[in-house]
Amino acid sequence: MKIAVIGTGYVGLVTGTCLAETGNDVICVDINASKIEKMQQGELPIYEPGLELLFHRNIQQGRIRFTMDLQSAVEHAEIIFMALPTPPGEDGAADLSYILGAAKDIAALLTGYKVIVNKSTVPVGTADKVKAVFESHTSIAVDVISNPEFLREGVAVEDFMKPDRVVIGTSSERAKKLMSELYAPYVRQGNPVIFMDERSAELTKYAANSFLATKITFMNEIANLCELVGADVDAVRKGIGTDERIGKRFLFPGIGYGGSCFPKDVQALVKSADEHEYNFEILKSVITVNEKQKVILADKLLQYYDNEISGKHFALWGLSFKPETDDIREAPALYLIETLLKNGASVSVFDPEGQENVKSIFNNRISYAENQYAALEGADALLIATEWSLFRNPDFEKMAELLKEKVIFDGRNLFELEKMTELGYYYNSIGRKLIAPDETLYQSLKSKTDAVQNA
Ligand code: UDX
Repeated sequence: MKIAVIGTGYVGLVTGTCLAETGNDVICVDINASKIEKMQQGELPIYEPGLELLFHRNIQQGRIRFTMDLQSAVEHAEIIFMALPTPPGEDGAADLSYILGAAKDIAALLTGYKVIVNKSTVPVGTADKVKAVFESHTSIAVDVISNPEFLREGVAVEDFMKPDRVVIGTSSERAKKLMSELYAPYVRQGNPVIFMDERSAELTKYAANSFLATKITFMNEIANLCELVGADVDAVRKGIGTDERIGKRFLFPGIGYGGSCFPKDVQALVKSADEHEYNFEILKSVITVNEKQKVILADKLLQYYDNEISGKHFALWGLSFKPETDDIREAPALYLIETLLKNGASVSVFDPEGQENVKSIFNNRISYAENQYAALEGADALLIATEWSLFRNPDFEKMAELLKEKVIFDGRNLFELEKMTELGYYYNSIGRKLIAPDETLYQSLKSKTDAVQNA
C-alpha cells in the first residue's frame, strides 16, 4: 500500500520504517531540513534498538524515502499517518496546532479520497476537529480516523511489529477495510485489531498510559511504606504480581516515571476531565506523588550528609528516562543533577546513550565520563538513576578503589542486598532494607531515611 507519514519523531519514524518492512511504499515527511537531509544520507536521527537495520534495509530496497515536500507525499499516499507532536500547553492541555496545521496543509493538496490517520496522542474530540478542518478546506471526501500508538521507547520496533492490540477508531467501512489490510501482517499471531468509535480510541490511549502511571506510582508509595515498616518491596511485588488480575509487569518501584508520554498524558487527561467539570482525583494524586518520587534520591542523599553537600563530588550512572534510549525528556536524572548543583556539589555523569542530550542542557556545569568507572573517580558517592544492563553487574572492587567512600544511592534497585552487605557498602535503594556497614551507623541513618519518607 502507498503510505505517507507526516512527522519523523520516535513514533513517525518507527511507524514509517515498520510499515515499509512489510512491503508498503512509504514516504516520510518532516519540516526539519537537517533531519530530512541526514535521513536521505542514511543517517538515523534517534537511537532505538533494531531500528537501524530495518531503516537501512528499507532505504536500500526503495520502500522508504524522506522528503520535505508534502505535496509529493500526499499525491503518493492512499493512507496518510499524522505522527506529530502534541506538547502540553501552559495549562497542561495538549497543543493541537501542529496537527490542525498539517490537516489544513494536506487538505489544500488533496486530489482524491484518503484515509487520514491520527497516530499522535490527542485529546478526545480531536478527530472531529481534524474532520472539521478538512470539511472547511476541501470538498474532497476523506476519512479521519484515530489509531493510537502504544509502542514503548527502547522496544519500539518489537512493539510495532508485534503489538498486543491495534486500536482503530472509525465508523467508515472503507477506512476499516484499508486499515485491516494494512495491519494484517502485524497481528498474524492472533492479537486483535479492535475497532471502535473515534472518541473511544482517543480516550483508550490516555486511559492506558494513565493507568500504567498509576500502577507505577502505587508501587512507589508501597516502596516508601516498606522502608518505614521494615518490609521488602521486591517480596511484596512478587507477592502481588502473581495475582493475574494485577500482573507482574510495571510493578517496579523507582524514582518516578518520566519520558515523553506518561507525564504529559496524565496531565492532559486531568486537564481534559477538568474541562468537562470532572475532578479526576486519583490522577491528580499520581502527579503529586510522582513529583516527590523524582527527588527522593536527592532527599535521601541530603539527609545522609545532613544537608551539607557543598564541595562534595558525586558520580551519577544513568541519564535517560529509561534504559535503551537516548531520550532524556522528563528524566528523573535531570532533577537529581539540578538539586546536587543547587546545593553546591559537583557531578560526573555517565550514560551509554543519553550523554549528548544532557550536554545540551547542562553544558560544562557537570562533567561527562567516558565510561561508568571513570565517573567514579574521587566521588564521595554513586547515584543510580537508570537501570541500564551494563550497570547491573559491575566490578565492585574497582568501584571501591575509585570512590572516596563505598556509598551508593540506587534509584533502580539494581543490586542484591546480601551482596552489598558482604561487600561492606552503604547501600540505600528504594523500598528495601538500608544496608550500612556498622550497626550504630545503621541506626542513625535509618532514622534519617525514615524522616525522608515521613516528610
Ligand atoms: C509509554 C507506554 O508504555 C507506551 O505504551 C506509550 O506508547 C508511550 O508511553 P515509554 O514512555 O516509552 O512508553 O516507556 P515505559 O517503558 O512505559 O516507561 C515509562 C516510565 O515508567 C519510565 O520512566 C520507567 O522508568 C517507568 N517505570 C516503568 C517504572 O518506574 N516502573 C515500572 O515498573 C515500569
